[in-house]
Amino acid sequence: MTEAFTPKNIIVTGGCGFIGSNFVHYVVENHPEVHVTVLDALTYAGSLDNIKGLPEDRVDFVHGNICDAELLDKIVPGHDAIVHYAAESHNDNSIADPEPFLKTNVEGTFRLLESVRKFGIRYHHISTDEVYGDLALDDPARFTESTPYHPSSPYSSTKASSDLLVRAWTRTYGLHTTISNCSNNYGPFQHVEKFIPRQITNILSGIRPKLYGNGLNVRDWIHTDDHSSAVWTILTQGRLGETYLIGADGEKNNLDVLKLILKQMGQPEDAFDHVKDRPGHDRRYAIDSTKLRTELGWKPQHTNFESGLDKTIEWYTNHQEWWEKTKAATEKRYKAQGQ
Ligand code: NAD
Ligand code: TYD
Repeated sequence: MTEAFTPKNIIVTGGCGFIGSNFVHYVVENHPEVHVTVLDALTYAGSLDNIKGLPEDRVDFVHGNICDAELLDKIVPGHDAIVHYAAESHNDNSIADPEPFLKTNVEGTFRLLESVRKFGIRYHHISTDEVYGDLALDDPARFTESTPYHPSSPYSSTKASSDLLVRAWTRTYGLHTTISNCSNNYGPFQHVEKFIPRQITNILSGIRPKLYGNGLNVRDWIHTDDHSSAVWTILTQGRLGETYLIGADGEKNNLDVLKLILKQMGQPEDAFDHVKDRPGHDRRYAIDSTKLRTELGWKPQHTNFESGLDKTIEWYTNHQEWWEKTKAATEKRYKAQGQ
């Protein structure tokens, strides 16, 4: 068994984005012995508002790009681990313009690995189940750690590339790394371009929700707090060189999720538009997280999706000033794509 790792001073890349900022909140609340340095380029998807109000003696912020090797030389020494969340994360954007995905997701990961190699610190790599491609709707199978890589989109192919870099650097240079591949997250601070916040904020703005294609595509939903606790478990107890899949048995098709949102927000269940489907749209994702649960004893806490969704709707309803800044530009982009 690997000895437990007890980090004291970690860098969280992408800590001003959706999942990264939720992880920073999680660490501050649950691990008082740990100091966090957030490294974030503040792209369209990142905002300092997401980590506002956290104690200054626990969290430092560095505004910078993970592709900047000189900056990494300055900030990495003195830290004992990097938890790497920063990415271009949205499939639709990757279809419209793949280049930033290559730069941040592939080159950015390469730069971080080189820095980890230089300074000999621990590295945890955040990835997605989308690296495995998709499953048929009627297939009882779920993804496991041994499912072959078969990514469909520019986004998922760059995430798959980054996972392979981590594995190669680990084997060749003996880096101390772990990887996690998680399913679709929901919760507070998610950008309004993503499915659940887009529909909630559409309804709050008087715009009809938009469903791609027939809406039968399945996603395996997990609350972002459960993702955070799983990452912490893997970082501190995971076996070096291993990959762990993170999921909470939350398979639902998009139409059912949208109907739940409409119901919980007091709308008729047909008050939405079918719009153009996403090219190459993955049919179904489903995670088997047995390895993480049996080997490391992790389990999700937010297992009632309806109640998690209800709290998420409440969060967006109460944080209009947070999302309205990006809403108009996002909808303009979608409209130009026919979505
Ligand atoms: P996000 O788009 O909300 O946030 C990304 C953050 O990274 C932003 O704060 C952005 O400013 C920052 N960033 C982007 N490029 C950067 C660069 N070159 N240098 C420094 N910072 C940069 O993304 P998210 O949804 O929170 O996803 C975070 C991670 O989790 C990603 O690696 C993603 O692949 C992975 N993931 C996401 C999901 C999901 O459901 N959203 C599921 C599984 C895995
Ligand atoms: P998304 O949140 O983009 O996550 P991912 O592509 O990583 O799964 O989309 C989730 C699902 O919702 C996906 O099947 C596409 C679909 N979708 C819609 O039907 N309408 C929308 O407006 C958006 C943004 C997504």
